[in-house]
Amino acid sequence: MSDPLDGKTSRRRFLGTAAAASVMIIKPELVRGSAANSTVRLGLLGCGGRGRNVASSFLQHTDAVVTAVGDMFADNLEKGRSVLDEAAQKYGKPAIDPSRAFRGPDAYQQLFACKEVDAVYIATPPWFHPAHLEAALAADKHVYLEKPVAVDVPGARKVMALGEKLKGRRSLAVGFQIRHASPYVELAKRIHDGQIGQPVCGQIHYFASALERPPFPDATPAERRLRNWVHDKALSGDIIVEQNVHIIDVTNWLLKAHPLKATGTGGRAGRTDRGDCWSHYDCVFTYPNDVHVSFASTQFGKAAWGVGMQYYGTKGCAEARYDVPVRISGEQAWEYPGLSKPEPTDAALAVTGTFKGALDDADPNKQKAFIESIVSGNLLNEAASGAEAALSAMLGRVAAATPGREVTWEKLLGSKEVSSPGMDWKQFA
Ligand SMILES: NC(=O)c1ccc[n+]([C@@H]2O[C@H](COP(=O)([O-])OP(=O)(O)OC[C@H]3O[C@@H](n4cnc5c(N)ncnc54)[C@H](O)[C@@H]3O)[C@@H](O)[C@H]2O)c1
Repeated sequence: MSDPLDGKTSRRRFLGTAAAASVMIIKPELVRGSAANSTVRLGLLGCGGRGRNVASSFLQHTDAVVTAVGDMFADNLEKGRSVLDEAAQKYGKPAIDPSRAFRGPDAYQQLFACKEVDAVYIATPPWFHPAHLEAALAADKHVYLEKPVAVDVPGARKVMALGEKLKGRRSLAVGFQIRHASPYVELAKRIHDGQIGQPVCGQIHYFASALERPPFPDATPAERRLRNWVHDKALSGDIIVEQNVHIIDVTNWLLKAHPLKATGTGGRAGRTDRGDCWSHYDCVFTYPNDVHVSFASTQFGKAAWGVGMQYYGTKGCAEARYDVPVRISGEQAWEYPGLSKPEPTDAALAVTGTFKGALDDADPNKQKAFIESIVSGNLLNEAASGAEAALSAMLGRVAAATPGREVTWEKLLGSKEVSSPGMDWKQFA
């Protein structure tokens, strides 16, 4: 299929009068500055598992087209382009022009400079997120940034500052799709309506098996490290910041607060990969009003996946899992209808964020919300909540590194420690 932007087989032409009519309602200038149609043109930076998955979901569930891709490595870039071209064909959308596939350490700059891109989806390893966000906003793009927004406190503060500076000029979404899962949205409403009474305590857990990655035997040690960033503390933020941050974000959302302090412990025993991430964390977070939330996580071995949260209040208990159930027991008992026990979570799918059960519509809804925000002009700005989630996870990480010592939010915010992988990215040019 030829490219939509060369004027020959433009999607804009296919849209016909229906699109022309909608243009008048949807403030097209918000999408593209001066453009005359509502199709959002997406660029994907980071063509790994999550990037391909979410970009495909955009093609399937929204009117957006993908017009450019970027990645550090040629093989990942090619895989991204071919998967997305296949998805585009399936959903009747144009393929990506090969001239807009950018490779190497400067790929992000080339992608963001692309005038055929209105919005970027950033799915690179977490260490890069603050810098990639800054560059994308400087290029005046709408941004969907994967979680975690940063791996260290200065990075999270930078993201917050960028969000404040944005002042509603562009949409900025952060990759917490669970906030869009219908069962969780309903649960949040009920908790905020007081259906469990005053929250008192909670228990949340994220139990995962080892994240298997290829050994890349022919790669240099530095390349292997970047490709397997998920095993590397400096690049990922460790499992609590990279993976477990989802349930910490859900807790912040449901309790309408971030933790004020934490204690914790953990370690690396049981892991067999070459990296330095921990195998487990055990923390207690204290939220306002002395609400205590105990948190446990694993990422090693071959245990089954299991993610769940329980929050106890004076009138009942709210329970939410990634699979089933999502419900409230107590004075106002309720259960989200129609959720049936799915097959055990497939480990390969789970690493891309695909869980069956309560999260079934989380991603499609998240992607629709981002596009709708751009097209409608009701722009999103999730910088603050995204940064707070990352900082809350860092609070647990810092507390666990100093067992027996409580770490407060204020103390954490004072941290100037910058996570440094000590690598020169130019070697991958
Ligand atoms: N929301 C969710 O449920 C969810 C699920 C999985 C992953 N994620 C997040 O998505 C992001 C990517 O995770 P993944 O599992 O796809 O990892 P991945 O390793 O599969 O993909 C990362 C891609 O980024 C590329 N890359 C690395 N450095 C780059 C750079 N500087 N510039 C351009 N490209 C670069 C890599 O080559 C790779 O193709 C992470 O932030 C992760 O936490 C979110």
